[in-house]
Amino acid sequence: MISKKMETELNLQLNKEFYSGYLYLAMSAYCSKKGFNGAANWFSIQYQEEIAHGMKLFKYLEDQDADIVLEKIEAPKSNFDSLLSAFEESLAHEQKMTGWLNELSDLAMKEKDHATYNLLQWYVTEQVEEEATVSEIIDKIRMIGDNGYGLYTVDQELAQRIFVDPTAQK
Ligand code: FEO
Repeated sequence: MISKKMETELNLQLNKEFYSGYLYLAMSAYCSKKGFNGAANWFSIQYQEEIAHGMKLFKYLEDQDADIVLEKIEAPKSNFDSLLSAFEESLAHEQKMTGWLNELSDLAMKEKDHATYNLLQWYVTEQVEEEATVSEIIDKIRMIGDNGYGLYTVDQELAQRIFVDPTAQK
């Protein structure tokens, strides 16, 4: 049993996870349009990860017999300045997500809601990994600058990513 306040906040977080998926799908479409098919693949897998994050929360709300409210999902922007800029915006978004998840953890702690706190720690840990992965890609692209061959090589690396459901592993 979770509090009404927690129920509301988790529903909001559910919407943010699905919005994240939508944002990454938009980034995937942008990359594909620009010929970065590897990056398009990377972002489309990121989209799948976000849906998995959302579904983990959805399942938790179901298990807690909470009311699930599916709000409208905000439309993400569809254009980005460059490949680097798409990844920079992705990092900025993940940092915001981390902030919100930390606030949710604070609330769970304040309410002595151990079950939700435990769930949220999974997300907090996942955020560390997500931010680190995106930062690493940004560093590489910055190092390469406008070098066409370098960008081609990074794009080839990003093409290797395959979907592994993060919620099934931990
Ligand atoms: Fe589900 Fe990338 O945060």
